[in-house]
Amino acid sequence: MLGLTHGNRSAVTCHLKCDNACSRPAPNSSCEPTFQRVASSALSRRALLAGGGALAAAVAMPVVHAQEAEATTRGSLGFTPITSVESTKDAFTVPKGFRWDLIIRWGDPLFENSPAFDPTKPDAQAQALQFGYNNDYLDIIETNSRGTRALLVCNHEYTNRAIMFPPTTTETEEAEVLRTLKAAHGFAVVELERARRGARWSYVRGGHHNRRITADTPFRFDGPAAGSDLLKTKADPHGVRALGTFGNCSGGTTPWGTVLSGEENFNGYFVADPAARGGKRYGLTSAASTYGWEKIDPRFDATKADYANEPHRFGYVVEIDPTDPTSTPVKHTAMGRMKHEGANIRVDDDGTVVAYMGDDEKFDYLYKFVAKNKFRKGSSRAARKHNLQLLSEGDLYVAKFSGTQEADNANLGSGEWIPLTKNGRSAVTGFTLEEVLVFTREAADAVKATPMDRCEDVQPDLKTGKLYVVCTNNDARGTTGKPATDAANPRPVNKNGHIIEITERRNQADATRFTWDLFLVCGDTDQAGTYFGGWEGPVAPISCPDNIAFDSVGNLWIATDGQPSSIKKNDGLFKVPLHGKERGHLVQFLAVPVQAETCGPVIHDRDGSVFVAVQHPGEEGTWAAQNSYFPDYVAAGATPARGAWRGPRPAVVQVTRA
Ligand code: FEO
Ligand code: CA
Ligand code: CA
Repeated sequence: MLGLTHGNRSAVTCHLKCDNACSRPAPNSSCEPTFQRVASSALSRRALLAGGGALAAAVAMPVVHAQEAEATTRGSLGFTPITSVESTKDAFTVPKGFRWDLIIRWGDPLFENSPAFDPTKPDAQAQALQFGYNNDYLDIIETNSRGTRALLVCNHEYTNRAIMFPPTTTETEEAEVLRTLKAAHGFAVVELERARRGARWSYVRGGHHNRRITADTPFRFDGPAAGSDLLKTKADPHGVRALGTFGNCSGGTTPWGTVLSGEENFNGYFVADPAARGGKRYGLTSAASTYGWEKIDPRFDATKADYANEPHRFGYVVEIDPTDPTSTPVKHTAMGRMKHEGANIRVDDDGTVVAYMGDDEKFDYLYKFVAKNKFRKGSSRAARKHNLQLLSEGDLYVAKFSGTQEADNANLGSGEWIPLTKNGRSAVTGFTLEEVLVFTREAADAVKATPMDRCEDVQPDLKTGKLYVVCTNNDARGTTGKPATDAANPRPVNKNGHIIEITERRNQADATRFTWDLFLVCGDTDQAGTYFGGWEGPVAPISCPDNIAFDSVGNLWIATDGQPSSIKKNDGLFKVPLHGKERGHLVQFLAVPVQAETCGPVIHDRDGSVFVAVQHPGEEGTWAAQNSYFPDYVAAGATPARGAWRGPRPAVVQVTRA
């Protein structure tokens, strides 16, 4: 279970998070190997910048991790960048003059009646009243004008029982662990308070809005596939009500105050028939599931006729209303079914609502959804009710990229959004509307969308309207029998990932054409082929970009899930200007502890705060031999409190000036 795997991730992450997707054949076999022109790709651009010609002859960039040379960086949150942190270091590292504080961690009590955290006694009921495990998407939504109250909303993507609980010795203990793991998935909504704007936040135990959503919480299906035969099971003969959400990865907060999140690696939770429709294409297998929930809950065994459709009920964008703890969360079938990373909304001046979404699997696709109805401004009940239904009806598109050979600094290519649904009907020959929405990957295969290098966050910059598509990595690109490089995915065996910048016309979010360029081609700076928005000076080494966020002054912040294996550094949060003469000048702000992933960055730079969700710290440990003690570090030489458990707890952290 140890060691790094294809994409610089640990084997534990691969096993638990994505059911070893990298070790299996990529589920998309629809795309024939292609040999598009890449003459003007970022590869040759960086090589040219480095003074070379063809890639093979490219002159290596000097290894200058010279962030030290720089004092502070542009923007309202100036800081002295940190240098990369060795991958063995169990520490949360922030710039000089900053501090980090814990807001909430796995097992913290959310309600007055929540039992105290005690991982030696796994207890599903207790866990359902406590903060969940492996937080990924995060937002901090202020709820009063003084900036002293807020709602923390985050999801809990997956669990790692080997370091959470002791090994079990009886069937009864085993069943309770499995139930507890179900309760550690899902979502948390937690009230925050502080004394004044700019101060540090504390969470409110027993807050009125506090809520846990788990793998058993009722959800409502909406959109055209709700009620479809494809969604019916023994427990839900009408196909309108699902239990729970899991594998929730990234997400987005809507202008109407709800939170969206993508159900990503749902396949690892099921035993299923891969020969059933969509089975293989969604990575379902007949082996025992990674989580073993089929032992305690029959719906996770889809090889049985009663629950053959249960896997069809996951893979959606879910919408949670954090302001109403009694609301039923929704799964939006209109936005398609895939390994949704997340969804992020742009609203144009005329009220047109667009959601951008990636399918995070090697050679899967980039999508957008355009709502049928327009956004209504204001906080009236009528406006709110209207906006809560915006994602229920609309058209779904998938992206096709074209490359051109234009000069550096010009738009590298153009692209087209191909409709999968149009005016409430299927736009794909041979597919009904319901089939498009439940077997979306197959519909996108049929229209020959562009297979991408694993789209993670896909977010519009709300100031410029430009869209940033984070492709985290794809080590199979260009290998035997797999799609070749193309202009939008320019690097063979892409271990370090890249970010595409798409320009769509403002106030034309429903346009079907776009132009694009490469913004970053990541990696260590001594690698030929890296590219940093045209910036030619030293930059921080970066790999596997994943979640992104924007600050108030035109910088993009990038969280990583894997660092260049050549340098073995801890994951971090990086800042890079999008505009001006420093465009592309990437520096590192923080590093998370050993074996952790940086998730859910929230940048409140005007308030002097950065928040991150620290996911899977110390994940390669065992119950008996833990690898991380984050966030409950004890001073060197000090003895932990008597009886205190020492092991990692995924947590939400606030970074402020010291
Ligand atoms: Fe959960 Fe796409 O990373
Ligand atoms: Ca992610
Ligand atoms: Ca990731």
